[in-house]
Amino acid sequence: MLACSGEAIEMVEDKRQRNTIKFEFNNRVLEAPERITIKKALEYAGIRFSELPDGLYSPCNAGGCYCCAVSADGEVVPSCITEIKDGMKLSPASKPLRVVTGFVPHMVGGVGTPYYLKSYSSYIEVACFTHGCNFRCPQCQNNVMAFTGGMAISPETAAEVLTSVRSMYKVNRMAFSGGECTLNRQWLTGAIRHLKELNKDKKARIHVDTNASIFTKDYLEELVLAGMTDIGIDIKSLHLDTFEKITGTDGKTAKTYLENEWFSARYMIENHPEVFTGIGIPYNKALISKEEIYDMGLRIADISKDVQVCVLDYRRAFRREMAAPDIQEMKEVKEILNSTGLKTVIAQTMKGNIVP
Ligand code: SF4
Ligand code: FES
Repeated sequence: MLACSGEAIEMVEDKRQRNTIKFEFNNRVLEAPERITIKKALEYAGIRFSELPDGLYSPCNAGGCYCCAVSADGEVVPSCITEIKDGMKLSPASKPLRVVTGFVPHMVGGVGTPYYLKSYSSYIEVACFTHGCNFRCPQCQNNVMAFTGGMAISPETAAEVLTSVRSMYKVNRMAFSGGECTLNRQWLTGAIRHLKELNKDKKARIHVDTNASIFTKDYLEELVLAGMTDIGIDIKSLHLDTFEKITGTDGKTAKTYLENEWFSARYMIENHPEVFTGIGIPYNKALISKEEIYDMGLRIADISKDVQVCVLDYRRAFRREMAAPDIQEMKEVKEILNSTGLKTVIAQTMKGNIVP
């Protein structure tokens, strides 16, 4: 239902009578109605799930990120989409897993790819796409990955496959994108550590493409320590109302996400010059004004005038109807950003990138 772009699927309430079932969580016997998810059963028994990383965490609710995973009768399953059964024995998940697809080569990479490496004739990067996202962007271009589950794999397997795809396409760059790849911290840091072990050559680059909404200082430090060499941070807006419109999130959670995006960009640029940091910002006049773009430029320039900023031309996708900005508009937006002092602005257009 979440991933259906035409909103053709709707949930229908199951009004049949529900018997009470018993299950165990951490050796405590609990009760809940039958025919609900494990997550709902735990909530019914008073166990709280959070939208932000804090104890039991369920940011995607689509079976993609496995942040909400538990061991159920010995098998690790996402609690948000798995049905509770009578007599089930639940405990915290014994290993990190994540639904991942893709492992495909790219010619242009992402927000964290230096613009001078982007090519339209040969591959420069291979990427794996993590399923599940904490945002609900109505113009999401990766809605299948963002809003579905599937078969989950370990961080080690993901790193092994990415390494073999790197060798197959003879590229140096390996990326994690999505969906939102940072949601399952243990999985992502494990995959990057393993990837670094398997790719000890100096040319290997490990790129994380992210909405940066759940980062903390220690999460960013853990990624750098694990081996991340490049990061692309999408900052969706300056103002909260714009952010809510673009991301489909709201309230206190949206405010925290937006603050974390700005914090992450500043933190990486000021503390990790050895990591290539790129910033992505959205543009479509239906979503964000040129004044807000200008003010975003000023705030980024206050962090660094040299950072690479990529303006992404948001267009009709998923559930949102809107005309794509034309090339002239994107040129204008690039000039607005340059006028704030930013030196390295790339504008994405229907006909390719306008580079510095
Ligand atoms: S943050 Fe990216 S992947 Fe997630 S919903 Fe928005 S556009 Fe889609
Ligand atoms: S919250 Fe359940 S898999 Fe993402």
